[in-house]
Amino acid sequence: MDPLWNALDGHGARLRGTTLRALFADDPTRFDRLSRRIEGLMVDFSKEKIDAAALDALLALAQAADVAGKRDAMVAGAPINLTEGRAVLHVAARDPGGIYDAAGAKEIGPVLDRFLAFAEDLRAGTVTASDGGRFTDVISIGIGGSDLGPAMAVRALAPYADGPRVHFIANVDGSDFIDTTRSLDPARTLVIVQSKTFTTIETMTNAATARGWLVAALGEAGASAHLAAVSTNLEATAQFGIVPERVFGFWDWIGGRYSIWSAIGLPLAIAIGAQDFRAFLAGGQAMDRHFRTAPLAENIPVIMGLIGLWRRNMMGAGSVAVIPYDERLARFPAYLQQLTMESNGKRVTRGGAPVARETCPVVWGEPGTNAQHSFFQLLHQGSDVIPVDFLLAATAHDPLGDHHAKLTANCLAQAKALAFGKTEAEVRDEMAGSGIAAAEIDRLAPHRSFPGDRPSTMLVYPRLDPATLGRLIALYEHKTFVEAALWDINAFDQWGVELGKALAQSLLPLVEGGEAQHEDASTTGLLDTLRAMRSTTP
Ligand code: F6P
Repeated sequence: MDPLWNALDGHGARLRGTTLRALFADDPTRFDRLSRRIEGLMVDFSKEKIDAAALDALLALAQAADVAGKRDAMVAGAPINLTEGRAVLHVAARDPGGIYDAAGAKEIGPVLDRFLAFAEDLRAGTVTASDGGRFTDVISIGIGGSDLGPAMAVRALAPYADGPRVHFIANVDGSDFIDTTRSLDPARTLVIVQSKTFTTIETMTNAATARGWLVAALGEAGASAHLAAVSTNLEATAQFGIVPERVFGFWDWIGGRYSIWSAIGLPLAIAIGAQDFRAFLAGGQAMDRHFRTAPLAENIPVIMGLIGLWRRNMMGAGSVAVIPYDERLARFPAYLQQLTMESNGKRVTRGGAPVARETCPVVWGEPGTNAQHSFFQLLHQGSDVIPVDFLLAATAHDPLGDHHAKLTANCLAQAKALAFGKTEAEVRDEMAGSGIAAAEIDRLAPHRSFPGDRPSTMLVYPRLDPATLGRLIALYEHKTFVEAALWDINAFDQWGVELGKALAQSLLPLVEGGEAQHEDASTTGLLDTLRAMRSTTP
């Protein structure tokens, strides 16, 4: 592998010595050569700092790292999550009754039918509240992968939401519970506890509080009609008092951050209905087909993964911004934070050795155009180069005057400004043309020029419908998989979250008044300060 990495380093050095302006000037066919399409999606890589030779070198690395073999092992149900001894088959969840015959995959169709039937019955009012009336509201209680996917998707697909209103509580901060339930009537509200393990402290705390909220209004017997659960831990759901007919299972071979496709998608199905939920699955499945069958050089998730590695290891980008020019994708960057950083925020290889190169960058973002008026200054003129993924719909759901045209123009403008900038000479010419004095030009030109040469990828889709959302999520899942395959890391465990969970358990009694004995000086000082502040805060 070393010669391949060395070759890539060489291409990186070569391309750092040129500019996107020069690359576009040298090759008028650059857009055609560096963009890829599948039905419902076009991805333009031409504003990335690569060329044909660099892409060939990246594809050679993909071959050598056996990306295709690793992909095939995943879809064959091999236990590729080595540290937990599990298969990784979220792909099977979007293909009920399909090609997957690994252990348990045959249960996918029946469970899907069951939770979609429940969603439809709830929407139709045949699943009723304890007083026989309709449920008007649903609260989904979960965190991480049991929250971010459905919460993001319900917001993204708001134009399709014609069922009960769906709300989300994730944070153990009681404000989340209070603010969400303030305007809700327990008599009209179904609570779904979403937790793969059914042990997560935040979720179990919120679930117990929600149960108390229901019991206070409806009594023990009444509350039970208002509770449902999605979990792999059926013993714990029973212990919590949720009747089996209201429990929807999934399996340890669907990771939390990949679980939107399973019964964890129930809140989304309640919001948009079974038909649109199936369209969402079909979108993901179409991306799977493409990922499984397209040659590496045409394979969009493969190229996105390779460019992810290129940005990180050859261009030195420690952070990547995801900017949807699509307000309803406002939670998409947060969703991707878990998907990518919990998957690939790793520092040892699958074999346990230190990784040779830097792995997952920080992923962050906010919708455009708002972001232009907050952090885009840094993207354009800051001292770090931060690659951007732009997401843009060709058409709006809400044809409101020229709003969408302006949104689109802004998105294209930002990508163009980042790539090509504005040289100091251009700024000087422009200022001179406006009759500005030479001294003033000298003073201001450095501030007003843009270095450009800042890479971005543009993803364009016809409209943000259920299938498109499914395609986008599956695309980023596979991109994340490809990056992990190239870095030789396990994308499917998350040991890094465990230490904090254990320490929080041991600190809880101290926060509640116990005497700190063996804590470090800072933690002891903080506990004392909090105690003192509590005693003087009314
Ligand atoms: O914090 C880590 C994590 O285990 C995530 O991977 C997971 O999505 C989340 O917690 C919630 O877990 P659960 O669904 O078991 O409540």
